[in-house]
Parts: sequence; C-alpha cells; structure tokens
Amino acid sequence: VGAKRSYHENIVEHYENPRNVGSLDKNADDVGTGLVGAPACGDVMKLQIRVDDDGNIIESKFKTFGCGSAIASSSVATEWIKGQSVEEVVKIQNADIAAHLKLPPVKLHCSMLAEDAIKAAVQDWKEKQQHKKQQTEATA
Ligand code: FES
Ligand code: FES
Repeated sequence: VGAKRSYHENIVEHYENPRNVGSLDKNADDVGTGLVGAPACGDVMKLQIRVDDDGNIIESKFKTFGCGSAIASSSVATEWIKGQSVEEVVKIQNADIAAHLKLPPVKLHCSMLAEDAIKAAVQDWKEKQQHKKQQTEATA
C-alpha cells in the first residue's frame, strides 16, 4: 500500500510536462488571444489559438503565471481544443477540466482560468474576423 497522494497523477504529469507552452503572434489575423486573471489569487493565464478558414483550431499555446493546478489546467485545455471548432470549445466547462485532473475543491478556481481563457481567445478571434470583414466591405 503506497503513501496516499494528495494530487492526482494527471495534475503532476501536466505540471511536470506542460503541453503547448509558448506564444503565437498576437497580431496575426488567424490568432485569438485570451488573457485572464483569477480574482481569488491574482494569477494570470494567456491562452492563444490559431484558427483555420473553417473555424477549426489548428494550434494552441499558453503561458500561465500561477499555481501548478492552473498550469495543468491550461495544458489540458490546449490539448483538448486542438482540432475542435471555435463553436465547440466555448462549451468546455471548468468542471470538465477539474474532473479530469481531479482537482481538489479549493483549486477549482484555477481551472476556471482555463475556461475563461478559452472563451476570451475565441472572442478575440471573432472580433478580428468581424473587423476583417468590415475592412473588406469598406474597400469593396
Ligand atoms: Fe493529459 Fe488527460 S492526462 S489530457
Ligand atoms: Fe491561483 Fe491556482 S491558486 S490559479
């Protein structure tokens, strides 16, 4: 019988080997950037997506200034959203991420950052597309 671990292995794994750490060019037309903070602790997460012409996410990167649970949550989030459409990924709930990582209740707000960051990134991308459309119309 091993010692009782307080953190599930998924958290530790994503904390030790976070996937998709880095940045995309935030000025690129096909990139959406979500930058969000957690009021509970002051931690910050940046999550970016690159979206193809069909509205599917082909790349995602994150940088998180925060606790291990926030880093693990962003890592899982970037993995999950790749290959999905922008319409689908906004349905991801922090509860899904928390359940997957088996976050303890006191760490739930850390996964909330990931949900918020995904939504903010999609919103940013949508605003850019809107802007692009208006410019095309203005010059047509
Ligand atoms: Fe990595 Fe599930 S353990 S996404
Ligand atoms: Fe701040 Fe986890 S304690 S994000």
